[in-house]
Amino acid sequence: MYAAYLDELGAPEAIRYGELPDPVPGPTDVLVDVLATTVNPVDTFVRSGKWRTPLSFPFVVSRDLVGVVASASPGAPGFAVGDWVWANSLGHAGRQGAAAQRAVVPAERLYHLPPGVDPTDAVAVAHPAGTAYLGLFTHGRVRAGETVLVAGAAGNVGSAMVAMAVDAGARVITTSSVRDIGYCRSLGAAAAFDYADPLLSSALRAECPQGIDVWLDNAGRNDLSSAVDLMAFRGRIVLLAGLDTRPVLPAGALYLKDGTVTGFTISRANVAELAEAARVINRLLKAGTLRPRTKEAVPLSAMAEAHRRLEQGLLHGKRLVVGTGRFDDEGNRPAMTSSIVDTSPLFELSADIRVDATPEQIYAVVSDLGRSGEWSPECQGGEWITGEPSQVGSVFRGENLRSEDVVGWAPLVRGTWHTESRVIAAEPGRTFRWMMLSYASEDQESVWGFDIRAEAGGSVLTHHFRMGTATAGIHKIVADLSEADRRRFVADWTAKLEQDLADTLKRLKDVIEHQG
Ligand SMILES: NC(=O)c1ccc[n+]([C@@H]2O[C@H](COP(=O)([O-])OP(=O)(O)OC[C@H]3O[C@@H](n4cnc5c(N)ncnc54)[C@H](OP(=O)(O)O)[C@@H]3O)[C@@H](O)[C@H]2O)c1
Repeated sequence: MYAAYLDELGAPEAIRYGELPDPVPGPTDVLVDVLATTVNPVDTFVRSGKWRTPLSFPFVVSRDLVGVVASASPGAPGFAVGDWVWANSLGHAGRQGAAAQRAVVPAERLYHLPPGVDPTDAVAVAHPAGTAYLGLFTHGRVRAGETVLVAGAAGNVGSAMVAMAVDAGARVITTSSVRDIGYCRSLGAAAAFDYADPLLSSALRAECPQGIDVWLDNAGRNDLSSAVDLMAFRGRIVLLAGLDTRPVLPAGALYLKDGTVTGFTISRANVAELAEAARVINRLLKAGTLRPRTKEAVPLSAMAEAHRRLEQGLLHGKRLVVGTGRFDDEGNRPAMTSSIVDTSPLFELSADIRVDATPEQIYAVVSDLGRSGEWSPECQGGEWITGEPSQVGSVFRGENLRSEDVVGWAPLVRGTWHTESRVIAAEPGRTFRWMMLSYASEDQESVWGFDIRAEAGGSVLTHHFRMGTATAGIHKIVADLSEADRRRFVADWTAKLEQDLADTLKRLKDVIEHQG
């Protein structure tokens, strides 16, 4: 895969572009085909070593990604091949970064992209909006009705803060350059001021006679004298920018107001805090209230130049969407099918047989999974562990037996093993279907079923199976196989399933026509 990576820390030119081996996911990870990443100030701090974090070389740069799930390990429930996802906490604390065609993301750090949301909008706001949420709510404890001052409101973090605070019912006051006042108002600011106005403090006091409840300065000037002076009783100042500033704190005035000054960095947020932020980001992305002001697409090979432009202050609120070249020109599907097991549907088969019995007689037998040992090649029977037998929603625990010669070369479960399935359709005389559940008892797109129709004095019984996307079990089987062996497995397994359907129907016909 192609990646933008470092062999050592340094200036933007230290970023190399070239091929690295695909990363290997661990048991609770998701492998993502990356559509795009972006560049944040913190990515430049990591690259230069200005901010130290554990990393190993070659080190893939960047925090944020948007893309499509290529594979999900068994310990990553909730993600399936083909899901659109985003993340904003790679590239630090020992994790490799996002600037590559493929990236491994711990499942607890990955979020679904809501349908209808432009993936490049999501990757552009992922880091600034995550920061905005943490600053406003996790650390600033903003509540509806409070007055919030957002300094640097036209920037990436600032604009997300305005949108989120307005959404939460706060009264938002902004400072920005004079040319951005209209933009700040368009985001919902109740009042917007020019940061260069020499009378800014008195204008803010006139606008907020009760004081400012929460003060967040994204420009990193950290003028604590003004902030404390304008603070409301029990006000909060949240520091998040201005790495090298050394402001004077009017301590007496602060404690006489019960005020607090707190700082934070998104890099230290825990996974629960990041996930909470992601839920709100997804809601606002879907509502259209959160979006980047402007975006510019650049290729992965231009990552060094992207860092240089950001460090030289040349972007002015423009987000660089760094495409990995993994996707086609429409940007909506991987250009390279990563593996045959990503095909959807992976298996879809059916077969039918004529049975001399009524649909009701046939239904009574096929819906009684406890009797499946009489006709199934692998299921030996089992028991209903929740709900009434054969009713929609009820769960059946099946006992299975597989001999050594079934697709003998592949690493399949053999001997006795158990599966759980839930009934998803039960219409007497017509249809009976059940879905195979994952090891974690979650739904999978793996459905077996029988359909029955009356025909000239008897019935036609159809048996079918459909696996939309590969189940956790299939992923486990193919995990260590080469692509050639994966293809061989899918072909052999299809043939095995065809034989199973035919055998099952023959045995069922026999059982039904000869039962007393
Ligand atoms: N703590 C964390 O976890 C965390 C996370 C993300 C980012 N950050 C930090 O947050 C800061 C903002 O990042 P960003 O991506 O939003 O940067 P940005 O897009 O450049 O935004 C900064 C904004 O501040 C404005 N500004 C400059 N001087 C100002 C002043 N005196 N008063 C009010 N506004 C002023 C700029 O306007 P002009 O265009 O007119 O200069 C710009 O709109 C950076 O320092 C970044 O390192 C911290």
